Amino acid sequence: MEHPELLETPEEVRTALDEARHGGRTIALVPTMGALHAGHLSLVREARRRADVVVVSIFVNPTQFVAGEDIDTYPRDLDADLALLGDEQADFVFHPSVAVMYPAGADSTVDPGAIGRVWCGASRPGHFTGVATIVTKLFGIVRPDVAIFGEKDFQQLRVIEKVVRDLDLGVRIVGCPIVRERDGVAMSSRNAYLSPQERTHARILSRALCSAQALARAGATDAAAIAADMCRMISGEEGVELDYATVVDAETLECLTVLGDRPARALVAARVGPARLIDTVSLTPAVPLVCE
Ligand code: PAF
Repeated sequence: MEHPELLETPEEVRTALDEARHGGRTIALVPTMGALHAGHLSLVREARRRADVVVVSIFVNPTQFVAGEDIDTYPRDLDADLALLGDEQADFVFHPSVAVMYPAGADSTVDPGAIGRVWCGASRPGHFTGVATIVTKLFGIVRPDVAIFGEKDFQQLRVIEKVVRDLDLGVRIVGCPIVRERDGVAMSSRNAYLSPQERTHARILSRALCSAQALARAGATDAAAIAADMCRMISGEEGVELDYATVVDAETLECLTVLGDRPARALVAARVGPARLIDTVSLTPAVPLVCE
């Protein structure tokens, strides 16, 4: 399959998309950091369904990594990504350099507010400001009608929806279901860091979520007890360091004490060897998570 057209500067993007936009064609953006897997490709397929032109951005955004994180080792393989995106018939790939995205003196930021300071935002201070800033900038460059994000980064999805609302960015945000490995582990570029043994231990995240979902389906309403159960399961797994396991309001991400009166979500984050992994499941599910 032919590779998508590679664009490296905002000017190239504007020139490439102007014709489509003036011809009345709709544009979808799939923002990524590359190292694409089946989860990303499901986003590209959703983009294809929703718009005439599909743009995928590949940019490992330095401002969303906090000190001591994996920016230098984050997996990068542009050729493999382009081949996969060719198979999915993406039209354009925007792959700018850090100097293009953050030229000297470009120090304006987008702070998403309180929603960006809890959960992953508490463990990774400034992370969501980095995400909100780069995504806002990508929206300014590509000017998409619709942008597609994975639900695995559930807090990121809510952060972006809020920024779009607060700043009237006029982009429709679509969240897509998590794609999982056969054993339930959520697909993530960071799974590549795991040794076979760590990969086995990583299954505890989806197992804890599966158990939370089973409790909710069986009629449990004590959200704190469900969260405590997930904490116990994850902390008890060898080689896994729990960050948080919680049950939240699916819209605001505020902690819930009772289930049943609003959409709820279980969120977990933990370090497994060199990888910080996150996962999530709806506790008001249409589709149950299936675990081994
Ligand atoms: O989810 C990601 O890969 C990144 O956080 C994003 C949205 C591409 C922003 O850099």
